[in-house]
Amino acid sequence: MKLKISPTQNEIVLGPEEIIVSKTDLTGRITYVNRAFMRIADFPEENVLGVQHNIVRHPDMPRGVFKLLWDTLQKKREFFGYVKNITANGDYYWVFANITPDMDFHGKHIGYFSVRRKPSQQAISTVRDVYREMLALEGRVGVANAPTASIEFLNARLKELGTTYDRFVLSL
Ligand SMILES: Cc1cc2nc3c(=O)[nH]c(=O)nc-3n(C[C@H](O)[C@H](O)[C@H](O)COP(=O)(O)O)c2cc1C
Repeated sequence: MKLKISPTQNEIVLGPEEIIVSKTDLTGRITYVNRAFMRIADFPEENVLGVQHNIVRHPDMPRGVFKLLWDTLQKKREFFGYVKNITANGDYYWVFANITPDMDFHGKHIGYFSVRRKPSQQAISTVRDVYREMLALEGRVGVANAPTASIEFLNARLKELGTTYDRFVLSL
């Protein structure tokens, strides 16, 4: 069960060399976290193994981003994206995440693998504004329509800029 954590305004900034890694099963349940994950998210290993990855979901994150994440993975493509996560005590940290399929020794697809790095300040400020607009739109259209409406909004905005999602996130 996901605990209700009250967000604070305190930001934890990743070190330039720091890499946060986690693995999940096919449904997004955590199967592995590295030390950086435990240190920054501030959850001990025993509290996160077997738990859904939304344990670090921050309420400022639009639903549309996670729909895009899962739609991309289901198409067997890797996902790149900027994510604001919450720590155990409500602080937040921004990451640039790359999620890929995780295979066992026989090549069987058993889950997903996420590697996260520190994003640039410019990327955070660009993405923060876009996410704020997506979140506001999601609030207006209601929970059921939120993910699709906010992806449509994002795609329309990217089209105006003459780019695509992957080109946009990788250019920041
Ligand atoms: C490998 C992997 C890593 C993920 N990492 C994060 C993460 O760091 N933060 C996050 O909020 N969601 C992450 N997710 C997505 C969550 O599974 C979930 O879709 C998201 O938190 C939205 O949860 P909700 O639908 O309950 O609101 C990850 C998913 C996978 C497969």
